[in-house]
Amino acid sequence: MSLLSVNNLNIRFRTGDGHVHAVNDVSFDIAKGQKLAVVGESGSGKSQIAMSIMGLLANNAEATGEILYEGQNLLTLPNAALNRIRAKDIGMIFQDPMSSLNPYMRIERQLGEVVEQHEGLSRRDARKRVLEVMEAVQIPDAKNRLTAYPHEFSGGMRQRIVIAMALICKPRLILADEPTTALDVTVQAQIMALLDEIQRDLGTAVMLITHDLGVVAGFCEDTLVLYGGRVMEAAPTLDLFDAPGHPYTRGLLRAVPNIHEATGALAAIPGSPPNQTRPPAACPFAPRCGDAVDACHQTLPPLEGRSRKRACIRPVEELT
Ligand SMILES: Nc1ncnc2c1ncn2[C@@H]1O[C@H](COP(=O)(O)OP(=O)(O)O)[C@@H](O)[C@H]1O
Ligand SMILES: [Mg+2]
Repeated sequence: MSLLSVNNLNIRFRTGDGHVHAVNDVSFDIAKGQKLAVVGESGSGKSQIAMSIMGLLANNAEATGEILYEGQNLLTLPNAALNRIRAKDIGMIFQDPMSSLNPYMRIERQLGEVVEQHEGLSRRDARKRVLEVMEAVQIPDAKNRLTAYPHEFSGGMRQRIVIAMALICKPRLILADEPTTALDVTVQAQIMALLDEIQRDLGTAVMLITHDLGVVAGFCEDTLVLYGGRVMEAAPTLDLFDAPGHPYTRGLLRAVPNIHEATGALAAIPGSPPNQTRPPAACPFAPRCGDAVDACHQTLPPLEGRSRKRACIRPVEELT
């Protein structure tokens, strides 16, 4: 059984201009210990998928479908059971570490409180656990820095503290939403290496959300590509890099800098993302797609395939 099974998830936001169709009929599974990347341009619905799993959707949202965690639907589970799962089993890492940290609270307290509340640890045991986890995320001189405040750390160190906070209850699933986007490139690589090491040690499953396919390459065995809140392609990461099956994935790959370093070519996908208030009853990518034919503008292509899935009616061999 999958650890997490998302089935036909739809997320709509009510606004003054009508409904925003942020996530459309999205299904995927995460097995125990699996690392899944969710990629797509800004606005493609990545964060809202994570927010719906955590129960953090805005008040104007409506989510339908199923989010099964070990067979229990998080969208309909009573609050008490839900809070237990979300506090203990699922950890979340956001892009901006300061959004998860209280600037006025010493590190020891912010992390300690979590385990005191959720695991009933004593102050003393909590302190021990905080130190362990601070060392696990490789904060230098952790012992002497427990009483520091968040602003006393660099951005990269703060993100390590947020990772420590997500790990402290030993979750079985970590949702990491653009965890390195706010950091400079060398620090990005260090944080990804850390996540990788922790994931291997603990066997935690990870859903890594990013707009940057370059980050995904060495880390996630599987990748889900979103566009306009829809899954365009889902495949093992290596296959996806090797032979992208969807024109949108091809566009994203051309936009990854290091892959084309030799030629210096870096192609942004022309055009802009779809209007989510009036989603087309056709392929959402068709207006920007160099391979589109008439039928692409008329029907919504189903997501088809087994180990590799793609939502495109054009044969792969004919894509440019
Ligand atoms: N509270 C809200 N009300 C209306 N629209 C929203 C709200 N929150 C998010 N959206 C819209 O949902 C879509 C998906 O957003 P998001 O999941 O944050 O994208 P990203 O892939 O960049 O993480 C966007 O079009 C965004 O504007
Ligand atoms: Mg986002």
